[in-house]
Amino acid sequence: MTMTDELQTFDGARLEALLGRLVGEVGAIYTAPLVVIGDGLGLFRALARGEPMTSTQLADATGTFERYVREWLAALAAAGYVNHEGGRFWLSPEQAMVFANADSPAFFLGAFETACALFAGREKMEAAFRSGRGVGWNEHDGMLYCGCARFFRAGYLQHLVGDWLPAIDGAVQALERGARVADVGCGYGASTVLMAQAFPNSRFHGFDYHEASILEARRAAERAGVADRVTFEVAAATDFPGRDYDLVTTFDALHDMGDPEGAARRVRSALAPKGAWMIVEPIAGDCLEDNLNPVGRIYYAASTMLCTPGSVAQDVGLALGAQAGELRLGQVVQPAGFRSFRRAAATPFNIVLEARP
Ligand SMILES: C[S@@+](CC[C@H](N)C(=O)[O-])C[C@H]1O[C@@H](n2cnc3c(N)ncnc32)[C@H](O)[C@@H]1O
Repeated sequence: MTMTDELQTFDGARLEALLGRLVGEVGAIYTAPLVVIGDGLGLFRALARGEPMTSTQLADATGTFERYVREWLAALAAAGYVNHEGGRFWLSPEQAMVFANADSPAFFLGAFETACALFAGREKMEAAFRSGRGVGWNEHDGMLYCGCARFFRAGYLQHLVGDWLPAIDGAVQALERGARVADVGCGYGASTVLMAQAFPNSRFHGFDYHEASILEARRAAERAGVADRVTFEVAAATDFPGRDYDLVTTFDALHDMGDPEGAARRVRSALAPKGAWMIVEPIAGDCLEDNLNPVGRIYYAASTMLCTPGSVAQDVGLALGAQAGELRLGQVVQPAGFRSFRRAAATPFNIVLEARP
């Protein structure tokens, strides 16, 4: 069959298979706001506490309206996100890790919050597609910032201290001795706080151009008891303050920047001669075909709605996109004067790159 034939005729079995797949996918999309509501009202946390519960017990425990709770439980049971037997509902330990425990490395709720923020941004993006203008990181629904922070934090919890920092030559030894670290594009400061908790002899400076995120990052440092060794300041990646940093880190933020080449130049000038830049980016291959998989699908969608318009909204507007890939990132970073640039580690969601002067 030629491509033209394929466009002119349709195959009933393939159509049925596509529609069958979409029923499952649309079900997941419809469930996303319910998941976020369940988090906000404490329904997951109550269900994770122990004994299976009826809808009345769950409503009583959370101070919510039983009829809505009953319908929510039915929807979540149909989704396979909660278990049900004889009118009682409970979370398995795995479901609790994913939906109820914010400190679990498998916590996935941030992805659902981010999905809701994408929906909320639809009209702005429709207009941006027409005009070609950017939509800044600061212009989105508030759910985005918490969702994004919680989504990425799970991976940082699992890998940052145990895997990623040890993959950067000499980083752990320097951090143990006492290093100066700049975390550029720090958002809510999840990565900054985790590093500060692990390395009390070091000093950490988080920078982000989004003021609301910096205020939240300061609160996070207070809550974690590391405010004595962490500062957070509003600053753009192209002109953040300080010099002679032993380590600069950028977590899932370089591709969001309007001028990542300018950011690379600023990092280069801010590093001590033996310092290193650890760049954590969404995992991606170098060409489209490499990324046509479930993780690439999530990142391309987020990139269309968030990362690409966020970059276009800034000076230069290079618009790397969240699936730029290692080759393209190297072209952005190396001309700033980094002699070495290599992949240090990778996980299902992230690639870790090391650049050295
Ligand atoms: C996807 S979020 C990641 C935030 C955080 N690093 C994390 O992992 O949770 C991207 C962050 O990059 C920040 N950002 C984008 N462009 C920036 C720029 N030019 N200078 C500083 N921060 C920037 C955004 O404000 C946002 O907080």
